[in-house]
Amino acid sequence: ETPRTISLAVIPGDGIGPEVTAEAVKVLLAVTGGSPVRFELTEYPLGAEHWLETGETLPEHTLQALKEHDAILFGAVGAAPGDTLVPSGLIERELLLKLRFSLDHYVNLRPSRLYPGVHSPLAAPGNVDFIVVREGTEGPYAGNGGVLREGTPQEIATEVSLNTAYGVERVVRDAFQRAAARPRRHLTLVHKHNVLVNAGRLWKRTVEKVAHEFPEVTHDYLHVDAATIFMVSDPSRFDVIVTDNLFGDIITDLAAAITGGIGLAASGNINMDRTFPSMFEPVHGSAPDIAGQQKADPTAAILSAALLLQHLGFDDEAAKVERAVEKDLSGRDGTRRTTAEVGDAIAAAV
Ligand code: NAI
Ligand code: MG
Repeated sequence: ETPRTISLAVIPGDGIGPEVTAEAVKVLLAVTGGSPVRFELTEYPLGAEHWLETGETLPEHTLQALKEHDAILFGAVGAAPGDTLVPSGLIERELLLKLRFSLDHYVNLRPSRLYPGVHSPLAAPGNVDFIVVREGTEGPYAGNGGVLREGTPQEIATEVSLNTAYGVERVVRDAFQRAAARPRRHLTLVHKHNVLVNAGRLWKRTVEKVAHEFPEVTHDYLHVDAATIFMVSDPSRFDVIVTDNLFGDIITDLAAAITGGIGLAASGNINMDRTFPSMFEPVHGSAPDIAGQQKADPTAAILSAALLLQHLGFDDEAAKVERAVEKDLSGRDGTRRTTAEVGDAIAAAV
């Protein structure tokens, strides 16, 4: 095999971000050790701490530098919820959302799988193994809105949900492609087209249209409120869910909760056209309550690294990481391990 060098940007961030990212990097290096794949790492200090020190959220030159990499591994950013020094929403809007929008991360991929040995809060979870393909660049998160007469009894506040035919079609096609590659080949559109009729019609019509390209994939539809019921009462019915930015944000937290919690939930912010690097990160935040104590579970970060490997075409290596995680999870007996000990065990198992 010809050697291949992957230029990887690493953004450890705040709180437990650096702790879990170190373990994800450890596993990436372990699984590619002895193979022709070599990771070249560049670290970028960004986040709430960095803003407090420098006043920078995501400067233009950093954004340009990030664009030159093959992929980005992201930890978590954000100050403690009670923190008064960092304005609410600053880091989310000017760093996280700016990265997703500037790098055109239109597929927000969030797998949900209940691994053997992991406890689910559901009474009868069944075999839970589905992925949510959440649109990442449009919907109510696009920043189309504003406020008039702020602070007065006549205040008007708007957040317009943006849905373009182009934006919906590219994410729906991606979801069908992912469904076609899975054993069950089933896609569920989640929306609320009985109330949000304009956007809903566009999503529904687009699914019907793209479905013709994938005759082997079956598809159905659920209103988002019904989807939350089934995610609790019958989650094994789902295979691939495609949905908009806001619905996807909400149902993926529920999906994480039923499959063992936030310490296991991985995600990818993916640009499938590969015009800019994709970014992989655990769903959880910086967890200031346990930061710096080696208490964080690095599994979500490690599974995000597996998604990164998959996106770069290293399917075998990605599968090895998943199997190592599976093995580690099935052997967990409640004994306390540090973040690094969990990382060491998974790195040794790949
Ligand atoms: P959080 O996800 O950081 O923490 C919620 C709870 O889950 C805490 O009790 C925490 O200890 C626990 N937890 C999270 N990850 C864990 C792990 N790997 N292992 C064990 N326990 C874990 O959410 P929270 O507290 O609402 O937000 C804290 C900060 O993180 C805020 O500034 C928020 O804005 C930011 N945030 C950043 C995200 C990102 O970087 N993508 C996503 C979500 C929140
Ligand atoms: Mg969320």
